[in-house]
Amino acid sequence: MADAHYELPELAELYDVDGGWSEDREFYLRLAGTEPIDVLELGCGTGLIARAMARAGHRVTGIDPAQAMLDVGRRASDGDRVTWVPASAQDFQLDKRFDLIFMTGHAFQVLLDDEDITAALANIRRHLAPDGTFAFETRNPALPWEILFDKVDVLLTAAGPVPVEWTVLWRRGEFVRFDTRYRLAGGDRISESTLRFLPHDRVENLLADAGFEIRSVFGDWDRTAFAPETSREIIVVAGNPG
Ligand SMILES: C[S@@+](CC[C@H](N)C(=O)[O-])C[C@H]1O[C@@H](n2cnc3c(N)ncnc32)[C@H](O)[C@@H]1O
Repeated sequence: MADAHYELPELAELYDVDGGWSEDREFYLRLAGTEPIDVLELGCGTGLIARAMARAGHRVTGIDPAQAMLDVGRRASDGDRVTWVPASAQDFQLDKRFDLIFMTGHAFQVLLDDEDITAALANIRRHLAPDGTFAFETRNPALPWEILFDKVDVLLTAAGPVPVEWTVLWRRGEFVRFDTRYRLAGGDRISESTLRFLPHDRVENLLADAGFEIRSVFGDWDRTAFAPETSREIIVVAGNPG
């Protein structure tokens, strides 16, 4: 079950207003290259990137367990260019292999225990073409996310401004628990979230155990090499062993 901001239609509608285009999305679009390939996005949400890749000529499948997010993507003007599948990273089953599988928007961090991560990685490996690429990012736990996540913003929607407040309730070990409060005209909606922040060596071990070969680990979207103490992101590009 995904968080309320992905499951409730009135909150899923706000995602693209919140999200827009950004350098992380550009990173994955470039990773797909210019020749048409088979792409799978796990945790695609409304498919902002999936739809951009489809517009660029790629054959794109988007998977997400939150029906409300998939519905927003389907209804978008270019939504018919993507194959939408309601499923989680752990349990999707497709009769196809992909040249690029990616998971972004920090969707990897919703996988809260090793069992879920191991199931997702095994599933991804089964669906990856022999010379395919798997890429994803997770936030570097070295940074004070319990401070960085506390913020306020205002979403400018067609129906008027929607104030949003993020409040961290606690940080314990690898986990951060926070609420997102949306002040909608009809009343407040609160989405409760817990994310896991794995250190880079654990990420690398889990990938190795799943049989992946790591090709690059970046610390930022400009492809700066990962620096354990300071990088904001752990961006991993992996594949089958060569
Ligand atoms: C922050 S959104 C990212 C959406 C999109 N990738 C983007 O970057 O715009 C995280 C997405 O992960 C999805 N999600 C939650 N649990 C998941 C799971 N077990 N497997 C795959 N996706 C999941 C949520 O429903 C949500 O749409």
